[in-house]
Amino acid sequence: MIVHFVRQNEKKEPTCADDTIRNLIQPAFEAGDFLGKEGQTILFYPEPSGTKTQKGPKRVLIVGLGKDKPSREILRKAGGTVASTAAKTKTTTMLVVVPETEELKKSEMVECMTEGLLLGTYQFRKYKTTNEDQNDTPSTLEKIELSVAGTSSARHGLKLGQVAAEAGCKARDMANEPGSAWTPTHFAKYSLELSKQYGFRRKVLSLNNMKKMGMGGIIGVNQGSAEPPKMIILEYKTGRKKAPTLLLVGKGLTFDSGGISLKPGSGMQDMKYDMCGGAAVLAAMQMVGEEKPKRVNIVAIVPATDNMPGPHALKPGDIITHYNGKTVEVINTDAEGRLILADALSYGVDTFKPDAIVDLATLTGAVIIGLGHHRTGLLSNNDKLSEKILAAGERSGEPLWRLPLGPEYTKQLKSEIADIKNVGSKGAGTITAGAFLQEFVGETPWAHLDIAGTAWKYTEKSYIPKGPSGVGVRTLIELIRAWR
Ligand code: BES
Ligand code: MN
Ligand code: ZN
Repeated sequence: MIVHFVRQNEKKEPTCADDTIRNLIQPAFEAGDFLGKEGQTILFYPEPSGTKTQKGPKRVLIVGLGKDKPSREILRKAGGTVASTAAKTKTTTMLVVVPETEELKKSEMVECMTEGLLLGTYQFRKYKTTNEDQNDTPSTLEKIELSVAGTSSARHGLKLGQVAAEAGCKARDMANEPGSAWTPTHFAKYSLELSKQYGFRRKVLSLNNMKKMGMGGIIGVNQGSAEPPKMIILEYKTGRKKAPTLLLVGKGLTFDSGGISLKPGSGMQDMKYDMCGGAAVLAAMQMVGEEKPKRVNIVAIVPATDNMPGPHALKPGDIITHYNGKTVEVINTDAEGRLILADALSYGVDTFKPDAIVDLATLTGAVIIGLGHHRTGLLSNNDKLSEKILAAGERSGEPLWRLPLGPEYTKQLKSEIADIKNVGSKGAGTITAGAFLQEFVGETPWAHLDIAGTAWKYTEKSYIPKGPSGVGVRTLIELIRAWR
């Protein structure tokens, strides 16, 4: 299959650099069947049967880019559209002719096209034993080639796009695994692979270590479980004395039943995705290992456990003591993410003295009420860091929306018996969760990304399949690449 892109315009002629292609689509254009609208596609089989010369392509796919000026996101979506057409046909090899535009640099065109193609080709078929479903068959795609004028900047763009997309797909792979097949131990194993491959310093805290360190949050949440908890720590150092340190923390809740405050049964299977924050952080470390950023040291921490009911489980009303000594009255055992993050954050601040912290977590259902499945919620104690993250989200096509923090929200966490309680009084559920985390970062610039609405069931996009989206991975990658 050969793939060309066409921009929509007001004239009678489609805009396309290639004469043959222009002639091919001209009739469809005149008939009004294909105008180059964004996402529009038309597929030709140009060789009449019996005349096969073996020279020309079997399929010619034309994809519309729309009339707006091409953006990074439009390119990514175009790549996703190509990928889905390739998957629906029996295409094995394809040549994608990357368009030239004035609006985007060549390396960016290639970067975003590559991201769209690779993220859009993603399939998770590990547990499928038949290919009988017509609409759900394994992709036959073996090879994608890009045709670009000029090579060196294109090659750079290709590498950037590839590294980002592969990290995104890795995060999806972890999330797709059932809760019983992706346990804290599996998180620890993957971190071992990363540390071996890229030379990261690695530490995994066991339950015993946690007990010695007084991590009452993760210990408490793990009490009902048959699986041991793990706190995974990976460290990347630039080797430069003065480089700042960025701490990444991801919620690695491998299954959230709610614990004694049990969730309703309907939809509970989706709670295997409650580890998407942790997956995003480790997948971002894969990029760190590949690119070895020069300006910033990175520490990744993933507190990992499941949240199960049982005779030893945490009870509503129990009081726990976190790593930093703060006591918390557990009102609802389903507000567990903040409990494991509290230990990870305060341990991270204490141990690594980071210059900035970003945490990612599927933390509240309330963020779906506020922002739907379209934007990640951002909460932060620092405007500069927020601006950086908003910009990284914009560049990577993962939009965020900032919500406020403040003493009026923190007050909602007041407890009669302990320092604070783990759920706020009625209202502002996403913000009170953020206010809870804020208690554990001190004065360090910190941002919290609530990805409960975007980690799966994400806003429909050609390069994001059903199931886990891998959201946050490319935002972190952009943030690290742009760190000054
Ligand atoms: N993992 C959930 C949040 C969640 C809910 C993510 C729905 C995606 C979809 C989290 O641990 C949780 O249960 N949060 C509670 C907090 C409440 C008890 C204060 C929630 O949002 O209901
Ligand atoms: Mn929960
Ligand atoms: Zn949870």
